[in-house]
Formats: sequence, structure tokens, C-alpha cells
Amino acid sequence: MPLKDPESRGTVLRHITVAIMGQEMALKLPKVIGHRGACAYAPENTLDSIKTAAALGVEWVELDVMLTRDSIPVIFHDDMLDRTSNGFGNMADHDWEYIKELDAGAWYGESFAGAHIPSLEDALDVILEKGLGLNLEIKPTPGRERETAEVALDVLSRIWDDHSRLLISSFQYTCLEIAQDMAPDWYRGVLFDHDEEMPENWREIVDYLDAATVNIGDKLATRSLIDEIMDFEKAILVYTINDPQRARTLQTWGVDAVFSDNPDVILQNLLKVH
Ligand code: G3P
Ligand code: MG
Repeated sequence: MPLKDPESRGTVLRHITVAIMGQEMALKLPKVIGHRGACAYAPENTLDSIKTAAALGVEWVELDVMLTRDSIPVIFHDDMLDRTSNGFGNMADHDWEYIKELDAGAWYGESFAGAHIPSLEDALDVILEKGLGLNLEIKPTPGRERETAEVALDVLSRIWDDHSRLLISSFQYTCLEIAQDMAPDWYRGVLFDHDEEMPENWREIVDYLDAATVNIGDKLATRSLIDEIMDFEKAILVYTINDPQRARTLQTWGVDAVFSDNPDVILQNLLKVH
């Protein structure tokens, strides 16, 4: 298998095929995944952001999921409410009754005033209605790794059907262990932080979690690391790529997909390979 040739390798990895219970399934990764929806154009992790991504022709979105104090899974990025809503303090210190009333759009722009922090369930409804694929990043507040994964996967398993368009990822290995236990046939991606060094034993981590993808920050995305991941025969995703030139470079190096805040711009500028 000529894995270092981006064209053939891309084809192979975008169609990673496994036989599960007699059925063939393939992870159909797109080349570009809308980051937090399409957060260059709408407030991140809101229904508006998901709908904007769909309107731009994006095939998949990435969303972050965490828990309220009373364990409702919600789509939100920071531990604290302050940056992206009119709430204050920690998400983990507030119940859904409070969180659901917050404004998560006005901070971004007046035209988005009234947008809410969506529950995972509400976000999934919109994603399914729009026919999008999903990379759900499990982003627990500190100490709630196990519970966040369990609750999110429980909701997901009741709603989501198409395993070829779903990737569960996390920086937290505990969350991916839970995913492996609860939903072994869903594809998993291990996230590696761009502010840290790639751990020397990354292959062991990826193997242990039986992950299909390695998701790295742009600062980690050197040609040599990408070569190593290719040799390890895992799909490679890189975040967060907003510069079309950089996206092209990563593409020619063999990266399978990039996360982007402006996915339409990246899509328009990628090289057309099949
Ligand atoms: O999953 C890719 C990316 O979203 C990881 O970083 O902080 O944007 O959730 P962050
Ligand atoms: Mg994320």
C-alpha cells in the first residue's frame, strides 16, 4: 500500500474499512471540518454556527461537549462561561435551568443576540436535519472525565445512527477509554495539544485507545511527524487551519483533514485530489 502518496493514501484512509458484525463501515472523513461550527462567521458552538457551516457547504462540524452541574451535556468550549456568554463563573457550577437562558451570541455580534448554549441533543437534531457529519470532542471540566463521556455517549447512542460520519475525540484519554467501552464500533481520535510536545510514546497511546485518527495542533504538524503518523497508518487531522496556503501544504504532506474556523475559504483553495 503506497501510503506516502497523498492521493492514494488519502483514498485509503478516508475509506478506512472495517468489518463489524458482518457489515462494512467506513469513516468518511471530509477534507475540511468546520471548527466549533463555522466560528469565523457565527458564535462558536451555537446552533447558528452549525447552520452557518451547513450553508457554506461544509460536510462535517466539530463541536465541544461538557456537562452542566446537573449533568446535562451542552455544546461549549471553555470551563468558564464568561468569554462566550453573558454568564459568569464555571459551567460546572451551574444547572441547565440557568445555562439554557444565557445569551451566547451577543458577545460575538448584535445580530446573534439571543443565541443560546445548545444542549447536545438540540445540536444533534440540527446536525441530522442538515445532513452533517460530526466530530464530537469530549471536553470535560476537570474531574468529570468519566461522567462527561458516559453521559454524552449515552445521548449520542440514542440519536446517532451513521457511524461512518461520526468521530469521537478527546485530549482526555479517560474519555476515549469510556468511548471504547461504551461504543467500540465508533471511530475514535486522540487529540494532542499544540502547546505541548508530542509525547514520545504517542504510538502506544494511539494503539492503547485503538484510535483511527491522530488529531494534532498545527504547531506539532511538522512534515516528519506527519510522515511518522502516515507510517503508523492512522488518519491525520490538524487544527486549527485558517490559512489556505498552510492547508494546501498540509494536504500535500498527506494530512487527511483540517479543522477550520473559515472552512469555506479552505475548501475553495484546496488542491483537487480524489
Ligand atoms: O478538535 C480540534 C480542536 O477543537 C481542539 O482544540 O481547544 O479548539 O477544542 P479546541
Ligand atoms: Mg474542540
